[in-house]
Amino acid sequence: MRNPFLIGERIYLRPLERADAPTIVEFLNDEQVTRTLNMHRPLTLEAEESWLEKAMKDERNILLAIARKSDDRYLGNTGLHLKQEKDRAAMFGIFIGAKDEWNKGHGTETAKLMLRYGFETLNLNRICLHVYANNPGGIRAYEKAGYVREGIMRQATYSEGRYHDVLVMGVLAEEWFARKERK
Ligand SMILES: CC(C)(COP(=O)(O)OP(=O)(O)OC[C@H]1O[C@@H](n2cnc3c(N)ncnc32)[C@H](O)[C@@H]1OP(=O)(O)O)[C@@H](O)C(=O)NCCC(=O)NCCS
Repeated sequence: MRNPFLIGERIYLRPLERADAPTIVEFLNDEQVTRTLNMHRPLTLEAEESWLEKAMKDERNILLAIARKSDDRYLGNTGLHLKQEKDRAAMFGIFIGAKDEWNKGHGTETAKLMLRYGFETLNLNRICLHVYANNPGGIRAYEKAGYVREGIMRQATYSEGRYHDVLVMGVLAEEWFARKERK
């Protein structure tokens, strides 16, 4: 493992580096990856590098690379965007750009690692996410990690020629710790 920050069973999360930018650009110009993300414009290396530089300095963003333990292969990104201090809440984000690594449990494992970090290290009270209704794999991964469906924003996004609902999913600290005790 190279510079691991959070370690799972088959993947680990490490700080993102400037050197990851060319791979991120490849991942995020791929329509199959972005169809369920809020990204729809061509992404240049320059734009990604300057975004990365800014985002890494922003203390409200915790950005991590997802890497495979067996060979350090870089698979995608995840992050927590912290809301205002008093609310103790954050928004979770993830993409796995290495499509041949979808449906192997990495999304679930990443979501769990970030929940643990959010609740047990950062002392958050709530972590939530938005997921498009046309992303059943994502919804399933989040449910397996402990997220519950909280609501639906009807027709909130447009992709692949039609509108899709967007689900709001969330986990509260009390649910996370109760689930941990049951295990
Ligand atoms: C969403 C994403 C992070 C999920 O990661 P992943 O590693 O593929 O997820 P997991 O393997 O942990 O879990 C996916 C689950 O959904 C299931 N699944 C996949 N496609 C499905 C479908 N069409 N219908 C129902 N279930 C489906 C898988 O079988 C798996 O469940 P199982 O382990 O019980 O069999 C990943 O696919 C991705 O990055 N997609 C592109 C970007 C994106 O959508 N990001 C998230 C935005 S909210």
